[in-house]
This record gives sequence, C-alpha cells and structure tokens, in this order.
Amino acid sequence: MDKFINVALPKGRLGEKVYDMFERAGYSCPSIKENSRKLIFENADKKVRFFWVKPSDVAIYVERGAADIGVAGKDILCEYNPEVYELLDLKIGKCSMAVAGKKGFQDDRNKTLRVATKFVNIAKKYYAEHGRDIDVIALNGSIELAPILSLSDVIVDIVETGSTLKENDLEVIEKFLPISARLIANKSSFKFKTEIIVDVQEKLSKEVDKL
Ligand code: PRP
Repeated sequence: MDKFINVALPKGRLGEKVYDMFERAGYSCPSIKENSRKLIFENADKKVRFFWVKPSDVAIYVERGAADIGVAGKDILCEYNPEVYELLDLKIGKCSMAVAGKKGFQDDRNKTLRVATKFVNIAKKYYAEHGRDIDVIALNGSIELAPILSLSDVIVDIVETGSTLKENDLEVIEKFLPISARLIANKSSFKFKTEIIVDVQEKLSKEVDKL
C-alpha cells in the first residue's frame, strides 16, 4: 500500500514559500531545493512526495486524487468550486479579487457592462449579486490591457501590490474577495489517510500561528 502522502504544490514563488512551511512543519524534502526541471520529489524517510503543478491546476489534481493534498489560492477554489475539503488558511499569498477600470470610470447602468477577466464564474456571481447585466470577455492574462484598448469597460482580476494597475493608469473600483493560499484535501484520501493528513494540517496550523 502506498503510505506516502502526495502533495501538489503551486509552481512558482508562492510554491516555494509553501514548501518552506511544509519543511518547517517537519515534512522536508531536501532534493526539491536542487535547481532542476524535475517535477516530482520525494523523501522516503518522511513518506512525502511533492509535485510542482501549475497553480490553477492544483485543485484538479487534488479533486481527482492524483494528489492527496495540495495548496491552492482561494481565487481558484471560488472560480472552479472543486469537490475537495478546504482544511486550512495558510495566510500567505494574500491578495484581493477586485473590479478595476480606467481612472474616473463611471458605470452607465443603461448599457451592458463589458467585463474582461480570467475569473468568469467569480465575475458573473459578483455582478448577478449586484443585479447588473454584463458581457463577460474571457481572457487568459494581461487583463489590464482590455480597458486600455476599449475591449472592456472594467476588469475583474487579482490585485496584490496594485502596481500593475498603477503603471497602466487603472484604479481599483471595489475589492470584494480577500484571497490567500488554502490547504485542500481529496475527499477519499482524507478518509483513508486521515492520520497523516490531520498531522500535516495540525503542524502547518502551528506554522501559520507563528507568521
Ligand atoms: C496577476 C494579476 C495582475 C497582477 C497583480 O497577474 O492578474 O496582473 O498579478 O499584481 P500587483 O497588484 O502586485 O501588480 P499574473 O502575474 O498572475 O499574470 P497574468 O494575469 O498576466 O497571467
């Protein structure tokens, strides 16, 4: 029986911080620090195996059981609503989901609002709650270009430092969803590997308290 715990980490800067938390929590895997193109690392002593996954794919790996647990942003969880357990707020990777537009933008409620975003479901839900008709323009990146080129009136996107908006003469209209990294678990893994998953959760929780 595979008693390893399989962990999907979001590849990139956030993932490195997340791995450091796992390491401090006692789930180390020194080989991961070697600069390589490898995507799978394991520590047989600790019975832990880490995968580097594109951040927006972590929830899919966990939902389908390719990973027992993983770390995904609240933005991804809200957008895709995966069937996973959300176990812990790691309180890192903090940012906000926001509506932004050109400086001084005034919404004309007689017109359908054109909204460019990577987060189609989040945007639809937000505007449905405001009773506002929108035309969603789904993009994959560089969302800030859309209002500048009049492809859209506003954007719904992640704001962290605010510098991308500032450097493109855009401003926040409303921040409406606080985001941070969350520990998630596959539902059947949680049933069959309860002890180890709860151990990871408790040890990471102690690391969160030290932040
Ligand atoms: C995200 C987001 C913003 C930027 C916000 O982009 O879409 O463009 O970060 O960060 P800031 O407020 O600190 O400037 P990301 O780097 O993920 O790239 P992409 O959306 O263009 O793929």
